[in-house]
Amino acid sequence: MDSHTVLYGVIGDPIRHSKSPIMLNRAFREKGINGAYAAFHVSPDELKQAIAGVRGLGFRGLNVTIPHKIEVMAFLDEVHEGARAAGAVNTIVNNDGRLIGYNTDGIGYVRSLKEEAEPDLKDKTIVVLGAGGASRGILWALAQEKPKAILLANRTEEKANELAAFFSQESGISAIPWSSLQDVCSYADVVINTTSVGMSPNIDAVPLDPSWLKPGSVASDLIYNPLKTAFLQQAERNGCRIHGGLGMFIYQGAYAFEYWTGEPAPVEVMRATVLESFGK
Ligand code: ATR
Repeated sequence: MDSHTVLYGVIGDPIRHSKSPIMLNRAFREKGINGAYAAFHVSPDELKQAIAGVRGLGFRGLNVTIPHKIEVMAFLDEVHEGARAAGAVNTIVNNDGRLIGYNTDGIGYVRSLKEEAEPDLKDKTIVVLGAGGASRGILWALAQEKPKAILLANRTEEKANELAAFFSQESGISAIPWSSLQDVCSYADVVINTTSVGMSPNIDAVPLDPSWLKPGSVASDLIYNPLKTAFLQQAERNGCRIHGGLGMFIYQGAYAFEYWTGEPAPVEVMRATVLESFGK
């Protein structure tokens, strides 16, 4: 670092578990960019001041994580369409004092799904399990790929109905009953778990019976701890292609890097750095 170093960071509460600093600093180093990225513990009552600090100190960019992704929008100058649809901002770009909020989680997830499992989502039938924040975060980005249908199922069906209704009819997103999952999974091309079922420490739990999925279809899980959930393990044994949640984390950071620097992110180096930090 010197007097030209451009500053970046992530704010959250808690934040000390974050892998973003090692991933983004490694990316800056790889590309020879004079940038530095740190983690800041910011409590909800400090959020407004933290954003004022970004402006005052001229940070070029900030990632925003739990619990600030919604509230931070009130302190920005502009919120991108995809972030508005997701109802959350995870990346801020500071353009000469003008703060613009983006959501790179959803588009990061879709880029990872396309690069790692299914290159073409156009005209595909996609089933999304869960209707919480994680589900809402990826729906807009999935709809941009013009699939044939996005079928949304949630244990509490009313929440799936509400979420489907939030998106316009042209989005192709519709709610389906949880009880119809066995039927729709028999012909779906991609089945995505956005629920917390299977997350450590409950690593044996599955959100639905993986044997319902069509062999050759893609089973995708937003969970990355464990890296290969029970849902993915069983789906793989049944002949499905599988896609884990780590890619979403890597590519949300890749998009942030690209928005801030205007350069392609060194994705493989970023992935290797994060995997190494997991001790793998
Ligand atoms: P997030 O913001 O991470 O999506 P959330 O808003 O708490 O977290 O949503 C969790 C999702 O997991 C919900 O869709 C939830 O279903 P309900 O709305 O019915 O609660 C889903 N979920 C959690 N435990 C589940 C289980 N055992 N079986 C099925 N779905 C479950």
